[in-house]
Amino acid sequence: MKGLILSGGEGTRLRPLTHTRAKQLVPIANKPVLFYGIEDMAAAGITDIAIVVGDTHQEIRDAVGDGSRFGVSVTYIRQRAPLGLAHCVLIARDFLGDDCFVMYLGDNMLEQGLAEFVESFEKSREQTPSLMGDAGPSRAQILLTPVDNPSSFGVAEIGPDGDVVNLVEKPTDPPSNLALVGVYIFDSCIHDAVAAIEPSARGELEITDAIDWLIQNGSRVRHQLLEGWWIDTGKKDPLLECNRLVLDTVARRVDGAVDDASKVEGRVVVSEGAKIVKSTIRGPAVIGANTRIENTFIGPYTSIGDECVITDAELDHSVVLEGCCIDGTNRITDSLIGQHVQVTRSPERRQASRLMLGDHSNLELG
Ligand code: TTP
Repeated sequence: MKGLILSGGEGTRLRPLTHTRAKQLVPIANKPVLFYGIEDMAAAGITDIAIVVGDTHQEIRDAVGDGSRFGVSVTYIRQRAPLGLAHCVLIARDFLGDDCFVMYLGDNMLEQGLAEFVESFEKSREQTPSLMGDAGPSRAQILLTPVDNPSSFGVAEIGPDGDVVNLVEKPTDPPSNLALVGVYIFDSCIHDAVAAIEPSARGELEITDAIDWLIQNGSRVRHQLLEGWWIDTGKKDPLLECNRLVLDTVARRVDGAVDDASKVEGRVVVSEGAKIVKSTIRGPAVIGANTRIENTFIGPYTSIGDECVITDAELDHSVVLEGCCIDGTNRITDSLIGQHVQVTRSPERRQASRLMLGDHSNLELG
């Protein structure tokens, strides 16, 4: 079994962060989203992984390298434009050969691991032919979860024997409330499917169309129901929610320095080289390496990246990337702050704010 992780795309919904940064490298509890997916694959015994990359390829290569630190081997496949998830399969043909593979969206996170998902697919293919029925072995397996708004997702219809009988992308009249989660397993039949389909109205080769092609051409497609949470971190609020869920699982560890006038309460990671001075950190929270927090309150569900300086401030429910400087501000909450951002308050405490914001910035002044 091989692995294919999709980390191209444009990330328009996380702008301005993703003008300069791959959205798959935005950190959750100070670890890039993409790393969780690679670690999940490694834990499921998948060690031969290709990552599809686009314009942000260099940054992803720099962060992941050859994969050896995850115990896997990583090959990079360059996609010249985000032409769809099925297009990624098309361009990975040589890497994939005739092997089965797990395909994983690089900006998605799942609470459940991949091991059981992979095992159940492999078991289903080991059945004796008489148990498989006329349709033969499963050619694909998808992960589904009930949602309140199926019209916003790829939606599956399940037949009486548990196989998927129909799959539609963002239907106006959904056949069920079961939405596709961004993890799939395919065998080599998917290559015929991605070669046969046409681009959709939005100009992309859709993986839902490819899977539906398999079904309509007589292939068995299995499904499993998702256990636990699943988050597409490609937008700010789900990203903050994901940070909250992951921070809830971190174990307390204080490697940095905390002075006597400070309090570090609950599940908090204070990374090496960090300094907490006259401040309170109320967990769950993570403070990055070499970050200085002074005269500040850091409230629950906050991740502060490496090399930040935060003074005379109050922050909670937020993600702050590395190299930021926040000084003398009112409470900052529910915020996602990119790398090397400076947030300061004028010493005269004027009513008017002075701003320098990048294209597509989002600002909500209190
Ligand atoms: P999406 O979130 O569907 O698309 P996007 O990255 O273009 O994002 P946005 O809507 O914010 O512009 O992508 C899911 C994942 O798949 C993500 O990690 C990017 C990746 N991807 C590719 O690698 N190639 C592609 O052609 C597409 C469409 C997505």
